[in-house]
Amino acid sequence: MSKVKIGIVGSRFQADCIAASVRMMPDEAEVVAVASPTPGNAEAFAKRHGIPRAYGDYRELLRDPEVEMISVTAPNRMHAQITIDAARAGKHVVCEKPLCVTLEEADAMIEACAKAGVLLLYAEELFFAPKYVKAKQMADEGAFGRVHVVKQGEKHNGPHSDWFWDVDQSGGGALMDLGCHGIAFCWWFLGKQKIKSVYAQLSTQVHGARTQGDDEALTIIEFENGALGIVENSWNRPGGMDDSIEVFGDKGQVYADLLMGNAMPTYSEVGFGYAVEKAGSTQGWTYPVFEEHWNYGFPQEMRHFARCVRGKETPISDGETGRVVQEVLYAAYASAGLGRKVQLPYRPSGISKPIDLWKRPELALSPS
Ligand SMILES: NC(=O)c1ccc[n+]([C@@H]2O[C@H](COP(=O)([O-])OP(=O)(O)OC[C@H]3O[C@@H](n4cnc5c(N)ncnc54)[C@H](O)[C@@H]3O)[C@@H](O)[C@H]2O)c1
Repeated sequence: MSKVKIGIVGSRFQADCIAASVRMMPDEAEVVAVASPTPGNAEAFAKRHGIPRAYGDYRELLRDPEVEMISVTAPNRMHAQITIDAARAGKHVVCEKPLCVTLEEADAMIEACAKAGVLLLYAEELFFAPKYVKAKQMADEGAFGRVHVVKQGEKHNGPHSDWFWDVDQSGGGALMDLGCHGIAFCWWFLGKQKIKSVYAQLSTQVHGARTQGDDEALTIIEFENGALGIVENSWNRPGGMDDSIEVFGDKGQVYADLLMGNAMPTYSEVGFGYAVEKAGSTQGWTYPVFEEHWNYGFPQEMRHFARCVRGKETPISDGETGRVVQEVLYAAYASAGLGRKVQLPYRPSGISKPIDLWKRPELALSPS
């Protein structure tokens, strides 16, 4: 069977990651087009990654007959519209996290893709991160007995682009940006079971002059079988990205540090090119990581999605996964606003972005 032809929407941070990741596992897919609105960016991106066609408007990319699947790497606020337009154009969609900004958008995206008969694939790479996959395999085998606590943390010193800090474009702060990974991870690790309640403590400790968003977030998820998910996120941790898990059962436990745990403790007086995502410096002691995309699971994720398009595999992360995460994000922001646990299902109406539920707790009480 021929390779799945991918068009990437966006040309910066995550777009680079996706293009490089597809190239790492080239047997199932190839990138044939890119679209980005900033003049010159799509062309430069195409040149950098050896991609044949570059467009200024993603709707032109959607008219490209060769493109079968798009990868949405535009800011959160645009995910829904791009996905719905792509579905109408008959293209499968890989959507970056978070799926979108509102639950209504999540429903509309799922519905549009179902109606068009295309796949909506939710890009949660932690489901493919080799270390985390191994930890889950051991848990599923019974290595830790009954797992009762799963912790996931993602922390760094704040996002690279301005739009993340503008809650109207992003929908929220560190919880929205990074917590979506931990929520998905705990849910997946514990077998995608029902979620009973969510409690969150949010604050803006350091970046109040720059954002309305939370820059410290702690979320506790109670699952149907009584197990707990604990998700810790921060935009206030200098020194490079920190992504790690802890899993506890009645017969054992496992710890995994995705980046520093795979790094080479290094000392350099003069510094060098690159250590790890969001590391401020490469001088002194640093922890340069190798095979960064591979350790995260991005190439494996894109290969899986391409195989899903060809009917060789069934999606393990789809629009429904993104909607589960979105509902927990709503509940977490509402919990922080109300100062108490929020039971699921939780479906407040008329919310324009999750963070409003924290800032204006009266909205969190609106009927579902
Ligand atoms: N899976 C992950 O770990 C991961 C990591 C980083 C980012 N992301 C997600 O990927 C998305 C993009 O983040 P990023 O870090 O690449 O941001 P970025 O700011 O680096 O890049 C955003 C890109 O979107 C483009 N864009 C803006 N408006 C557009 C439009 N109308 N049409 C097409 N493109 C448009 C910009 O030109 C830019 O190329 C976000 O949703 C983010 O949450 C996921």
